[in-house]
Amino acid sequence: MKKVDVVLGLQWGDEGKGKVVDVLTPNYTVVARFQGGPNAGHSLHFGDKSFVLRTVPSGIFRDGSINVIGNGVVVDPVSLAEELKNIAAQGIPVQKKLLISKKAHIILPTHRMLDAASEAAKGKSKIGSTLKGIGPTYMDKTGRNGLRFGDVLADDFIERYNRLKAKHVEMLSQYKDFEYDVTEYEKTWMEGIDYLRGFEFIDSEHTINKYIDEDVPILAEGAQGSLLDVDFGTYPFVTSSNTVCAGVCTGLGVAPTKIGDVYGIFKAYCTRVGSGPFPTELFDETGKELGRIGHEFGAVTGRPRRCGWLDLVALKYAVMVDGVTQLIMMKSDVMNDFDTIKVATAYRIGDEVVSHFPYEVNDSIEPVYTEFKGWKCDICKVRRYEDFPVEFKQYVEFIERETGVPVKIISVGPDREETIVR
Ligand code: GDP
Ligand code: IMO
Ligand code: MG
Repeated sequence: MKKVDVVLGLQWGDEGKGKVVDVLTPNYTVVARFQGGPNAGHSLHFGDKSFVLRTVPSGIFRDGSINVIGNGVVVDPVSLAEELKNIAAQGIPVQKKLLISKKAHIILPTHRMLDAASEAAKGKSKIGSTLKGIGPTYMDKTGRNGLRFGDVLADDFIERYNRLKAKHVEMLSQYKDFEYDVTEYEKTWMEGIDYLRGFEFIDSEHTINKYIDEDVPILAEGAQGSLLDVDFGTYPFVTSSNTVCAGVCTGLGVAPTKIGDVYGIFKAYCTRVGSGPFPTELFDETGKELGRIGHEFGAVTGRPRRCGWLDLVALKYAVMVDGVTQLIMMKSDVMNDFDTIKVATAYRIGDEVVSHFPYEVNDSIEPVYTEFKGWKCDICKVRRYEDFPVEFKQYVEFIERETGVPVKIISVGPDREETIVR
């Protein structure tokens, strides 16, 4: 029996999961998404080509790969159809390479409207959602009202759709100032559904477990990051799914005993897009530099990402909850020119200094920093760990000591090639 390896983000998303999955896929036959939806934006760069994947697993470009959209994912037919048509235009046989779980829930046009209406009503305390309908769709899932891909095959699919839509229209009428019209968008949505009928809808838990029994190597690809997890993230400023490792079990039907390596990805610094607490956020020139050099703009919404120093209190928390076995550090190259690099190793809360991630993460937290001398040279061309400058190695080895987990892969640029495996 071959266990399922997992790649997931340990921060607030955008750690570089797309790149890592793309780099790791030669070792796997199956790549499976287990949660989230088109709120994700996973960037891939190889040669002169760049792609941003939203719902399609990041293994799609590798020859011979099988890509599964698991039951834990919420799917927008418009966004998925568009994404697949773009990939198909590159000569990739998407119909052969993508399988969709019958149990994956469908994002309706009115789910998106509910997301927008709810955010607008929240005013200043809005989550900063990507407005893709993620929250309302997961609410219908747990509220036992949702529409699933298996329903698309039912004779009365349209009736089921209309019933759920009517419920949403009723809910939307509660938002007095919210105006909307989904007539045009609904047509595109139906076209999306029809396009997706050309794909294989599967009982994904059976398929995945058959692969496990047959020793077929599987990589589970997370979306978002552990600090956006609905249970363990900075609630309520989170997404609506379990982004942590346990999400693989519920989002694919993989038993906990069948989880193998857990690759935890983090940026050498920290970013967050949308609202919510971020203890190490920088509002100064250094923060702006990180954003500028790191091109920190949301891959889905284009919003500037907030930037700050690496937060080891939060990272250790994510390592604990996820059971990370190997760390992967991304975007170290962004700090090539920095004189000093800081890392938060504790939080000062009032008179107390704590080293655990607290129940309430708020603006009163003051990070306690450890400072490192910058490496002050270009590390983008380095391909062997031995060749990194000593200051860089000190930084990496400090993180390893603090977390108790080895940093197995280091990324020094967006391209597939700019990757060092130790
Ligand atoms: P994901 O959502 O976790 O897949 O990450 P995103 O794709 O949203 O954001 C990561 C961004 O960083 C993308 O634009 C990547 O191309 C880029 N990137 C990934 N790794 C590196 C790296 O090591 N160095 C630099 N400079 N950019 C990177
Ligand atoms: P990837 O997979 C970064 C954030 C949003 C918002 C909150 C809730 O690319 O790392 P939602 O649309 O889920 O209701 O938004 O979560 N968010 C992400 N931030 N990367 C992502 O995905 C994200 N997906 C959602 O900005 O703060
Ligand atoms: Mg992203």
